[in-house]
Amino acid sequence: MKPREIRPGIYSVGAVDWDRRLFDSLIPLPDGTSYNSYLIKGSEKTALIDTVDPTMESVLVDHLDELGIRKIDYVIANHAEQDHSGSIPCMLAKYPGAMVICTPRCKGMLIDLLLVPEDKFITVEDKETISLGNRTLEFIHAPWVHWPETMLTYLREEKILFPCDFFGSHLATTDMYVTDEGQVYEAAKRYYAEIMMPFRTTIQKNLEKVKGYTIEIIAPSHGPMYDKPEFIMNAYYEWAFCVPKNIVVLPYISMHGSTRRMVTYFVEALAQRGVTVKQFDLTVTDIGKLAMALVDAATVVLGTPTVLAGPHPNVVYAAFLANALRPNLKFATIIGSYGWGGKTVEQLTALLPNLKVEILEPVLIKGYPRETDFKALDNLAEVIARKHKDMGYD
Ligand code: FEO
Repeated sequence: MKPREIRPGIYSVGAVDWDRRLFDSLIPLPDGTSYNSYLIKGSEKTALIDTVDPTMESVLVDHLDELGIRKIDYVIANHAEQDHSGSIPCMLAKYPGAMVICTPRCKGMLIDLLLVPEDKFITVEDKETISLGNRTLEFIHAPWVHWPETMLTYLREEKILFPCDFFGSHLATTDMYVTDEGQVYEAAKRYYAEIMMPFRTTIQKNLEKVKGYTIEIIAPSHGPMYDKPEFIMNAYYEWAFCVPKNIVVLPYISMHGSTRRMVTYFVEALAQRGVTVKQFDLTVTDIGKLAMALVDAATVVLGTPTVLAGPHPNVVYAAFLANALRPNLKFATIIGSYGWGGKTVEQLTALLPNLKVEILEPVLIKGYPRETDFKALDNLAEVIARKHKDMGYD
């Protein structure tokens, strides 16, 4: 794709990565992604906001050449993660007069991660500005969206916010702005769940901070831009300030069918009591879907057989992930089957220290479920439905 003009002298010059399917060697990217970079020409200076993943630096170089850019004065590094900063060395080689502008903390990280020479930096404090002549960039420190060094850049005259990862979505598209709100809502929620949810309280603070600015366009560094900023701002308010809903998330594994039978019965028992259940077979599930389901769920129930005297490793992985993502869950429990014993409950609950949850009485049974086991599952479903109701979740 060619560089796109957003406003006179302001261009989107990044790269769309249609084929990438995994981020951080962890996160599935069903819809690819983009590494957005923005060029702003002022009457005196030119700035580049964020670069691109190093795998696509030739795209950025081609775009800048196509626009005939011979001089860049400032490379703004909103965030040190390499999908945005990784082409800074290339930019500094191409434009030797350019200086990197970032937070003091980001400077240290760029020196460590990319070996950028120390004398190539200008560090900026919160709310500090830099003039490009007829245009002014204001830097808004926003730590922990989602690394400690992050900042946002605000172009005052055009009222454009460049928030890097904040408000972004892993979505490869030819659309410059959001056209399909349903598709972008899903991709942005997935992104929020995987990247931002662990920092929910700082996200809340940063949302309040951003609210003080008049914004006409949000230009994130992943996914399409927002020419109706309230669309993504409202979505972020909904997710970050979310009161849990009457939802149970149930990731599970079954080896020989006992746990599956329990899961099937239990899901029906919950559904009959008016509880929404999101069930995930961990042998096939997309962990991004699981992360999204955790955003507004009240309860997680882990379903596992006993293997090698403990929970199945895939369930351990799901528990570890849920703990790391710190969703706003209120209750957790375990259902499953064993052959002769084990420490499943102890091992799984020990994996959830970050979750401020009440652990409900698990249902661990020997062998294939019998009548008494189904009764125990009915009781657990009853407890969950009642607790959700008592808390006012609907
Ligand atoms: Fe898109 Fe945190 O990097």
